[in-house]
Amino acid sequence: MASSNIIRFLLDGKLREIENPDPTETVLNHLRYGMARTGTKEGCAEGDCGACTVVIGELDGNNIRYRAVNACILFMPVLDGKELITVESLCADDGSLHAVQQAMVDTHGSQCGFCTPGIVMSLFALKKENRNPGGNAIEDALAGNLCRCTGYGPIIEAAEKMQDNVAPENADDIKDRVDALKKLARHQTLELTGKSALTGTTKKYYAPVSIEGLADIVERHPNATILAGGTDVGLWVTKQHRELDVVIYIGGVPELQEIEDHGDVVDIGAGVSYTDAMDKLGALYPDMGELIRRIGSVQIRNSGTIGGNIANGSPIGDSPPALIAVGATLVLRKGEDERTIPLEDYFIDYGKQDLRPGEFVARVIVPKPKANQHFRAYKLSKRFDQDISAVCGCFGLTIEDGIVTDARICYGGMAATPKRSAQAEKALVGKPWKKNTAHAGMAAMEQDYAPLSDMRASADYRLVSAKNLLMKAFVETTSSVQTRVLTREGAANAG
Ligand SMILES: Cc1cc2nc3c(=O)[nH]c(=O)nc-3n(C[C@H](O)[C@H](O)[C@H](O)COP(=O)(O)OP(=O)(O)OC[C@H]3O[C@@H](n4cnc5c(N)ncnc54)[C@H](O)[C@@H]3O)c2cc1C
Ligand code: FES
Ligand code: FES
Repeated sequence: MASSNIIRFLLDGKLREIENPDPTETVLNHLRYGMARTGTKEGCAEGDCGACTVVIGELDGNNIRYRAVNACILFMPVLDGKELITVESLCADDGSLHAVQQAMVDTHGSQCGFCTPGIVMSLFALKKENRNPGGNAIEDALAGNLCRCTGYGPIIEAAEKMQDNVAPENADDIKDRVDALKKLARHQTLELTGKSALTGTTKKYYAPVSIEGLADIVERHPNATILAGGTDVGLWVTKQHRELDVVIYIGGVPELQEIEDHGDVVDIGAGVSYTDAMDKLGALYPDMGELIRRIGSVQIRNSGTIGGNIANGSPIGDSPPALIAVGATLVLRKGEDERTIPLEDYFIDYGKQDLRPGEFVARVIVPKPKANQHFRAYKLSKRFDQDISAVCGCFGLTIEDGIVTDARICYGGMAATPKRSAQAEKALVGKPWKKNTAHAGMAAMEQDYAPLSDMRASADYRLVSAKNLLMKAFVETTSSVQTRVLTREGAANAG
């Protein structure tokens, strides 16, 4: 195990080394207070507003993959072996503006300017990712960036305008950075011992580089905090001011970042980001892809992982109901042993999961769609983007010769865990897929759920809308009527 107590990363193309970092100091705080790079702003410190957006580059073969992330919930050691790009990195040495910044000036895309660095970084990442930034891609890229004063019209105009003006990068510069990142690659676990800047207590941080290494460390530290994307864990530190004594980061374990196609099923490693899972799962189940696209923002989806969304046991996580509705199973690992359970069995009660001491979530196994299977997923939230579900309803229905032969219905937001609708499923199976069957399922749902009222929705709203979502699935699977709002553009057209 390498106990160097130094993390190394690239910034402005140069190697940076930080000795004895506080393992849970955020990148935002380090930039602002440790390096006086105050271009990156703090708005919410919880991943919502995007003022702190920076871009992270990671080796991808002989290329670098760039992703916008929220620096406010990213811990410093996570930068180890990566490239960090901040808004200060964009200006040329002679002070001339980057094409994205110039476009913002030209279209009057900034007023008070507080959101501007984050918006610039989101648009810079959009261009770096080489996605075709037409229509929805621009809106999507900006969904995690809150601007209170300018209004998004001029900002979207800037995003359109920058397209033609961003000069392609020099191939030699790219190669230099790829080579530099290759030199930073770790072949042994990174082990850090740091002190909390706040209380002076000692903290440990491990970043293993193999699944065996991870299994060993988790077994030896069963009470440690496993860190994946940090879109929950980061907030424990920034909002709850929790001190995490031992953190085990899984982002450097290659086996957990893999998506493997095994014919009838696809294995999604626990550390696969929402962004990466979205493409694969969306190709199998379009509604699942769209549901994942509604999770948080681009920044959150670039950091947050499918494994974290399951492991945290939240009753309102969006991916578990969808994965349960298609019959996914979960692989848990402890030491050298693995066990596989139906995903729904992992969620025992509120805050209680079937995760034993020394065990971690290794991967989720997702069956591919079968003949005559229909899958629908609907997220109800107050805002279209960057909002948590009040209710998330997912339906895996097999209809053969007009008869429901299999039904898996699962909701988030209706109980203390993501929960299948056992009575509604029973009311459907073996019956003709007709309106009265759907109504019977809706009525049966009252035996399945007694939802709570909270700030997101009342109990009545939840139950009524959960029932209605089944009717929505019925309408969509029996007619050409599409009641779904897949995109804002779609919503506008339907309007
Ligand atoms: C602004 C914002 C918007 C959000 N929007 C949504 C949304 O729309 N829908 C939604 O569902 N969620 C949303 N979330 C919640 C969050 O994205 C998810 O809960 C996320 O999936 C957590 O994954 P992570 O990789 O970031 O996990 P982390 O924060 O790293 O970890 C979460 C928990 O899981 C544990 N853990 C992680 N990986 C493993 C593993 N492999 N084995 C065992 N334990 C593990 C950690 O110890 C921790 O307890 C949002 C969060 C933020 C900050
Ligand atoms: S400060 Fe608001 S997202 Fe980071
Ligand atoms: S310019 Fe003021 S918040 Fe966007």
